Amino acid sequence: MKYVVGNWKMHLGIRESVALVRGVLRGLRGKERTPEVILCPSFTALSEVHKVVARSRVALGAQNVGTERSGAFTGEVSTLMLEDVGAQYVIVGHSERRNVFGETDEMVNQKMHAVNEAKLTPILCVGESMDVRDAGEAYAHVRDQLSSALEGVRLKRSDTLFVAYEPIWAIGSGKPAAVGDIVEMHQMIREHIAKMDIVEQDKLLLLYGGSVTDENAYQYLREREIDGLLVGGASLKLQQFHGILDAAGEVIHAQQG
Ligand code: PGA
Repeated sequence: MKYVVGNWKMHLGIRESVALVRGVLRGLRGKERTPEVILCPSFTALSEVHKVVARSRVALGAQNVGTERSGAFTGEVSTLMLEDVGAQYVIVGHSERRNVFGETDEMVNQKMHAVNEAKLTPILCVGESMDVRDAGEAYAHVRDQLSSALEGVRLKRSDTLFVAYEPIWAIGSGKPAAVGDIVEMHQMIREHIAKMDIVEQDKLLLLYGGSVTDENAYQYLREREIDGLLVGGASLKLQQFHGILDAAGEVIHAQQG
């Protein structure tokens, strides 16, 4: 199976979100081979989008979550609240959270623990800056991010873990990473997590994110090492997003033989 996650970031009001998700569902109608689609609208749109996707082929995700279940934490949204609104997935440690809002590795780890205790599937984001890549330290950096984010986390047998490799320099830049580099990074991620022994191998799904478009999606999705894509900008444009879902459909068709 292939997975396509749409990260709408801080875009779209409730009405626009509902219109976009309706458009996504319309485009999926009647298609035999489609990827698993997970859409992550803003917090304020989750409730209305959930009403539209309930009992559909599209799943709901949030873009962030707090570390505590409830309490005096002004402005935070807890795992309980996300479950309550019908979210099944949550993005944890996106580079914008880390770099713009100062989320530390320790906070990312606390969020992973909170999500693991809830009925939510985490989409953990990792990735290096251009400086780190230029210094030849991309692997070490991503390894460190994984080690700290997953420290002490033990998933249940049936639990899935998504890890999205999103090099910071590729996000929103129009400069996506090369397929070969992603495949190598994914292999390293898989080996590292296998050593940590926290999740069944077939329950670890690896995504790529960073300037994915309808034009480059196929070349990524056809790689067996790449289970899917985390899409920002192109997930807001219905036609482009459908192009990406169609590319996934073609790959699923080709790989089923
Ligand atoms: P982008 O964003 O597709 O706009 O590069 C990806 C992401 O930040 O998840």
